[in-house]
Amino acid sequence: MLFLPLSLKVFEDIRSPRILITGAEGQLGSELADSLAGEYEVIAVDKKDFDISKFKAVNSFIMDTRPNGIIHSAAFTDVDKCEKEKEKAFKVNAIGTRNLAIAAKKVDAKFFYISTDYVFDGEKDGVYYEYDAPNPKTIYGMSKLLGENFVREQLNRFFIMRIGWLYGTNGVNFIKKMIDLAKKKKKIQVVNDQFGSPTWTFNVIEQIKKLMPTDFYGTYHATCQGSCSWFEFACEIFKNIGYVAEVKDCKSLNFKLKTKSFIPGIQKDFKLLAIESNKLKNPARRPKNSALENYMLKLQNLDIMPHWKESLASFLDTLKT
Ligand SMILES: NC(=O)c1ccc[n+]([C@@H]2O[C@H](COP(=O)([O-])OP(=O)(O)OC[C@H]3O[C@@H](n4cnc5c(N)ncnc54)[C@H](OP(=O)(O)O)[C@@H]3O)[C@@H](O)[C@H]2O)c1
Repeated sequence: MLFLPLSLKVFEDIRSPRILITGAEGQLGSELADSLAGEYEVIAVDKKDFDISKFKAVNSFIMDTRPNGIIHSAAFTDVDKCEKEKEKAFKVNAIGTRNLAIAAKKVDAKFFYISTDYVFDGEKDGVYYEYDAPNPKTIYGMSKLLGENFVREQLNRFFIMRIGWLYGTNGVNFIKKMIDLAKKKKKIQVVNDQFGSPTWTFNVIEQIKKLMPTDFYGTYHATCQGSCSWFEFACEIFKNIGYVAEVKDCKSLNFKLKTKSFIPGIQKDFKLLAIESNKLKNPARRPKNSALENYMLKLQNLDIMPHWKESLASFLDTLKT
């Protein structure tokens, strides 16, 4: 057995925990790395550092850096491309997660795996609880579920956190798409038959920070409270950036700009049309219902996720300069 000299042992105890974040150039990982940097020694990695699907590369990086915790946010997240590139999806999302879990076990690192609402089939009436059986209908969902299973099989000290309908400052998301469309389209079509909980990266990160220091390991749902359709989400975005809606009929709204908006370049008016998902010919089937209940967090008084409307307003406030 190797004993550390006392002086070194003391140093080990007082230094801040070292946290490795994968996918650190992605939408969630990039903000996570910035946010944790003040509190932890952060090792932020992405594809350029190593490919998570290659065991040797993962193993040697983790053996060299010996993190105390790993937050695994990297994934092949394009759900339509996953349908076409099935092998890559399973290699990155399933095998990649397995590789990280094996290496985490060797260095005894706590493991945080970011998972998804796509592990469910979306057919349930009402919210999904952690005890509901996954039944993914897409390659992306299947590969992420296999990733979850590898984490459970390899590790004891893990958190699996399922999130959905994510938006934040970095990367591409629904809010940015809507704002972009409000700059150039007179008719914007949005689906009104898929439901979920829009969730701000900031809230997910605060929730991770709350859970991570604990030993309350397990599978958690962590989305903002309440749910809506994409159409309702779009309406709320437009109202928050200064439009008022004039109801034409239940499927169409005329939006007019009330005052000068804090978003430069948006049009004075446009029409928002509610459509059904079958009008969009996406390769990957979208779950009809993605609403998750943060039941495990609530049972332990750990749920700090706000209502989605409150978070949306706070996020849009960050765009005001
Ligand atoms: N976005 C959502 O609405 C949503 C919803 C539910 C769950 N999630 C989960 O939340 C996590 C973060 O999502 P996100 O939106 O931040 O994703 P993202 O923006 O696509 O970021 C993922 C990052 O992982 C990297 N990556 C992909 N393949 C890799 C590989 N083989 N080796 C190393 N790095 C690799 C990507 O690099 P490239 O960009 O160069 O490929 C990217 O920087 C993911 O695990 C996702 O499954 C996301």
